[in-house]
Amino acid sequence: MAKTWVKVGGAGACTVAVLAFLLNQSTSAAPKPDLKPSAHWVFDADAVAGKTVTDRAGKLTGTLLGAPALVTESNAGAYLHLTGPDDGVMIKTRVAPDAPFLPKEALSVVAWVRVDEPTEWTGVLGCFQDNGPAETGFIVGTNKKKFFFGLSTKGADDGDGKMTYLESKSEFARGRWHHIAAVYDGKQMQLFVNGQLDSTSTEQSGPVLYSKSAPLVIGRYKDDNEDYPLHGAIKEVLLCPHAIAADQVTSHFQADKALVDVPSVVPEGPRFVVEPYLQYVTRTGITVMWETEDPCTAVLEYGTALPAKQQVKVEKPDTMGEVALTGLEPNTKYFYRVVCQDAQGRKLEGKPLTFMTAPGSNDAFSFTVIGDTQRNPVVTGKVAKLMWERRPNFVVHCGDVVDDGASKAQWTGDLFKPCHELFGRVPVFPCIGNHEKDHPHYYKYFSLPKPEYYYSYTYGNAEFFVLDTNSKRNLKSDGEQYKWLEKALAASTAKWKFCYHHHPAYCSDDDDYGNTWKGSSTYGDVRVRNFVALYEKYKVDVVFNGHVHVYERTWPIREGKVDQKNGIVYVTSGGGGGGLENFAPTPPFFKQQFRSDFHFCYANIHQGTFDLKAFDQEGRLFDQFTIKKD
Ligand SMILES: [Fe+2]
Ligand SMILES: [Fe+2]
Repeated sequence: MAKTWVKVGGAGACTVAVLAFLLNQSTSAAPKPDLKPSAHWVFDADAVAGKTVTDRAGKLTGTLLGAPALVTESNAGAYLHLTGPDDGVMIKTRVAPDAPFLPKEALSVVAWVRVDEPTEWTGVLGCFQDNGPAETGFIVGTNKKKFFFGLSTKGADDGDGKMTYLESKSEFARGRWHHIAAVYDGKQMQLFVNGQLDSTSTEQSGPVLYSKSAPLVIGRYKDDNEDYPLHGAIKEVLLCPHAIAADQVTSHFQADKALVDVPSVVPEGPRFVVEPYLQYVTRTGITVMWETEDPCTAVLEYGTALPAKQQVKVEKPDTMGEVALTGLEPNTKYFYRVVCQDAQGRKLEGKPLTFMTAPGSNDAFSFTVIGDTQRNPVVTGKVAKLMWERRPNFVVHCGDVVDDGASKAQWTGDLFKPCHELFGRVPVFPCIGNHEKDHPHYYKYFSLPKPEYYYSYTYGNAEFFVLDTNSKRNLKSDGEQYKWLEKALAASTAKWKFCYHHHPAYCSDDDDYGNTWKGSSTYGDVRVRNFVALYEKYKVDVVFNGHVHVYERTWPIREGKVDQKNGIVYVTSGGGGGGLENFAPTPPFFKQQFRSDFHFCYANIHQGTFDLKAFDQEGRLFDQFTIKKD
């Protein structure tokens, strides 16, 4: 996605004071004009039946996605409440450019919308593709706290389509109703907010340019490679194959203008974009992080009892918060709470949370393993809940934490949001996968010892060595990581040694390392296998990886053979949400247990006993193994 923005002149959006509060046709402030739409979706009990949404003007029946609620309130009337990560309304999954219901020469989209949680990209109504430089169709939505009207036309076509994102000058009020109208007459784009012209652009001209296929969707910013929900509410959406006159827009707004005076459904003041979460716990320290919508100062309260008496102040206003606590008691439960304050002095009080410092080498502890959460918040949420129910001491993430490291919406909406309860109480130790694209977001959201892309940590009697196995790193014996790993493994006195990285040294995948249905495979990443010599030399116990979206546990391997006595077990755990993969038709020499399903692993260690269990997304145990040593 390469988005270009235009910011242009126009009348400012204004809030119109109204007297009437009752909202229905008979008591409206003004008669509602007939905008002659080709499609008109109204979210009320007459139109929504089960999963079906009737089109009052045409034949574009919609289907509810996820589980949005149809709500009726005395002051706002009926609306569709969109709260879940997969909520929305699918009108058509694939629309061809010559579909008769698509506006061609001109178009208007009119809607009553409420955004409760502003995020990076949301959609009100769209039929578009924005895939790298290829940009086609139209989309009306929001970006952070502004509305936008995206349009691609034949007049501005640069070969594969060029979209103009016309952004509203004014910010919308979170949790309050807004009337928006996006109008295009073949020469000019106009964006109206609450009946007033807000912004215009003449960058586009001529007929709308559509791709070969695009979905027509309400309540999501959705094309072939992006899919983000709107968190809020929609009352009605109209699609017109013509440009609506400005006075018609105003009249349409006026008819239900009492909606803009309905109080906000969300509290005023600062808001967490990412709720507080934990990083890099040791016996005497831990790092607490969070992100707010606007810059805030903060106080981190912590202590071994409530109310927590110790404090760390963050005096410099920022959207990212990061406090490294030191001098803590080992193996001890702490309470903590983040209290933020914005420039207006408004406070945001996080809920009291807990963490546990690392135990000593004789104490029992547990951790969970997940990989490849990517962009599937429903499954990631299910797996995160199951992990939290096990009350692990920490979480190992085997990389591909998001699907596109450059997409902030994926970090906030697809990773941290479904994992917030777990990550707020259990520190996560990640490794970087290929889908993060080495983007600064990885280094912004995770706080790890420098140089961050590789690091190690000790927990109880175990030491964990974390590597970056992406191709931009030199993984050979003269590379930085190899040299570091050799030194670190040689120096380690830990009873248990675990390594993890994203790509597998060994796996039974069918097509990542050669198409096994048609030819041969290396059954793993040969670049990563360079590290195996070190694993074997320094007696690493288990190696974890993700990348292949399955579960697999190998027989213990040493020197390219199964060696039950001295071999190393390799565990692939890539079942956190990314699309599931398949296995080769014939088994490689190391194959022992595998399963293609969403899952997580749960490991327990006490002194010389290591036990690992694998659970599927329903919490059903499907594999277990134990290693014992003196
Ligand atoms: Fe992946
Ligand atoms: Fe991957």
